[in-house]
Amino acid sequence: MIAHPGEPLGPHQLWGAWSWEPGIVLPLGLAAGLYAIGLRALWRAAGPGRGIRKRDAAAFALGWATLALALLSPLHRLGEVLFAAHMVQHELLMALAAPLLVLGRPLVPFVWAVPPGWRRTLGRWTGGDRFRGVWATLTHPVAAWSLHAAAIWIWHVPSLYEATLRSEAVHALQHASFLGTALLFWWSVLEGRRHGRLGWPGAVIALFTTAVHTSILGALLTFSTRPWYPAYGAVSAAWGLTPLEDQQLAGLIMWVPGGLAYLVAALALLASWLAEPEHTPRRLPLGAVSLVLVGTLALAGCGRSGALSFEEAARLTGGGNPARGRLAIRQYGCGACHTVSGVRGADGLVGPPLDGIGGRSYIAGVLTNTPQHMIRWIVDPHGVDSLTAMPATGVGEREARDIASYLYTRR
Ligand code: HEC
Repeated sequence: MIAHPGEPLGPHQLWGAWSWEPGIVLPLGLAAGLYAIGLRALWRAAGPGRGIRKRDAAAFALGWATLALALLSPLHRLGEVLFAAHMVQHELLMALAAPLLVLGRPLVPFVWAVPPGWRRTLGRWTGGDRFRGVWATLTHPVAAWSLHAAAIWIWHVPSLYEATLRSEAVHALQHASFLGTALLFWWSVLEGRRHGRLGWPGAVIALFTTAVHTSILGALLTFSTRPWYPAYGAVSAAWGLTPLEDQQLAGLIMWVPGGLAYLVAALALLASWLAEPEHTPRRLPLGAVSLVLVGTLALAGCGRSGALSFEEAARLTGGGNPARGRLAIRQYGCGACHTVSGVRGADGLVGPPLDGIGGRSYIAGVLTNTPQHMIRWIVDPHGVDSLTAMPATGVGEREARDIASYLYTRR
């Protein structure tokens, strides 16, 4: 019944039981390599800690190490004989590795890790409407929440769970769907809290409700009077546990530490939300008033500063999409060198701030400021000025049009 040939794992073999399956080792190595190469390129160009902060990089490293521990260490083999060990492995994947990896913002270093030419192809791919549509659907908070919940509940159906003990392929599929949906879930929560459709309250509710439903599943396992997965029974005895004890332990692990992880994350989000001055209830009216004031001033000032509305900017640039441009600015790490309002983390000081660029006469001091020139500069700064310190970032024509349109909306 064990997918590996020979004897089921016994206690004396535990510490030698590392798994070096190429299907796991290669993607893990690739992810670490790409992140390190991209981070080096980005930090070399923009200065250490810019674009990706040191704590983002530390989060990624920790998440990666957790992933490696869960998938390569003897825990993986132990999970094939003890349900409780399997549960620890799954909790490490879903409640620890996934959020840390998301906090590491890996897409930015990944983009920087590939040569500019490839980046352009990649950008054309991921910039297409179809890709964006699918991505937006999958990371919609409600969709990501439901997918993750479905993966957790469906895989605990006895026939499916036992299939993972018989077949290495089914087992891999289970892990991929746990990790994949967990990454979507945490992405929608951690990225969506600022500009997602549900915002901070939505993120906190998503975490809280996930804590609740995983705790319910854990409690069901803990209090059940019969083993759900009898296949474990044949070997758990060698480890001094009856199948029912093994299951109770697994249930408790999902219920308490597992549920706690989501609760702690929900409380941390709530705390940082309340710490933002405009969200402290007492100051809410004041925040609203100042928002209206600033908005009015901004509108009044638009004419003078040259900042445009999204529609105007789209027309000016011949069909650029400012919202997409904002995403591209994030994705290509422009913010490591430039300050751009409305783009999180775009606070770089290597190049000039890009806010208010619509009101300037020249781009980089060499091109007159027209949309066509702006696009040309963004695509190929060295073609314009061979001595410029701005690197080719790999942005393609279409994305540059989007980026230019967003920049023209900044006052
Ligand atoms: C490694 C740092 C770095 C990165 C990354 C970078 N830039 Fe620049 N950028 C510069 C520097 C330095 C200048 C000033 C160049 C000059 O004047 O020759 C500049 C100039 C510019 C200008 C002209 C600004 C002005 O005031 O005239 C624009 C527009 C611009 N960058 C857009 C972008 C966009 C869009 C991205 C991302 C796709 C980006 N940059 C990424 C360093 C960078």
